[in-house]
Amino acid sequence: MDLIEAMEKRHAVREYTDRQIDDETKAKLQEVIDECNKEGNLNIQLFTDEPGAFDESILIYGKIKNGRNYFAMIGENAPDLEERVGYYGEKLVLSAQQMGLNTCWVGTTYKKMNKLMNLRENDRIVLVIALGYGENQGEAHKSKDISCVAKSEGDSPEWFLKGAKAALLAPTAINQQRFTFTLLEDGKVKADPGRAFFCKVDLGIAKYHFELGAGKDSFEWA
Ligand SMILES: Cc1cc2nc3c(=O)[nH]c(=O)nc-3n(C[C@H](O)[C@H](O)[C@H](O)COP(=O)(O)O)c2cc1C
Repeated sequence: MDLIEAMEKRHAVREYTDRQIDDETKAKLQEVIDECNKEGNLNIQLFTDEPGAFDESILIYGKIKNGRNYFAMIGENAPDLEERVGYYGEKLVLSAQQMGLNTCWVGTTYKKMNKLMNLRENDRIVLVIALGYGENQGEAHKSKDISCVAKSEGDSPEWFLKGAKAALLAPTAINQQRFTFTLLEDGKVKADPGRAFFCKVDLGIAKYHFELGAGKDSFEWA
C-alpha cells in the first residue's frame, strides 16, 4: 500500500480487537519513531499491551474501546511544537496504516499513561494516538468543499489542487478542517491554521497530506 492509498483508507478507529502487535511490527514502528524524533526534534514514545489505557475516559462519543496501544506525542515546549507533532504524528499514522494497523488521534492523555511516559526537562505531552487492529476500518469523514481550503492569487495548477484534496482527507479535531492553503504570486504556498482548538496540530497533519498529494518537490512553503 503506498502512502496515497494509506491516506485514502485511513479513518479514525475507536474500537479495537485483542490482537497484539507482534515484535517485528513493533520494531518497524520504532524505526519510524526514531526517524520522526530525529527529523522533528521530538520525544515520541510507543506504548503497547497496556489494557485499560483509555478506560478513565468519561466521554461517550470519542471513547476508545479496548485501546491498549498508543503513541505518546511528546516534545520540548516550543512555539512550533504542536505543528511538528501533527506533521510527524501523521507520518506515523500513515506508516501504521501501511502495516495494517488502525489509529485515532486523541486530544487528551490519562493519568495511567502519564506515569509511564519518560519526560525530559521542558518536555510537554501534547496528546496521544491510539493504535491497534480495529474492530472495523472506520468511515470517511465529511470534507469541506475545496474552495473553502484552497485559495490562489492566480491560476490553480494541478499539483496545488491535488495537495488541497489530500489535505481534505486529513484527520482534524472534531473534523473541523479550519486550515487554508494559499498559492501566492511567487509560487510559494502559505499554510494558515485558522483559529480553533488544536488547529496547529491539525495544520501539521494537513501539511503532511498536502506534501504527499502535491509532491514535495512541486513547491516550497512560504
Ligand atoms: C488533534 C486531534 C484531536 C482529536 N481528538 C479526538 C478525541 O479526543 N477523541 C476522539 O474520539 N477523536 C479525536 N480525534 C479524531 C477526530 O474526531 C477525527 O479525526 C475526525 O472526526 C475526522 O475523522 P477521520 O479521522 O475518520 O478522518 C482527534 C483528531 C485530531 C486531529
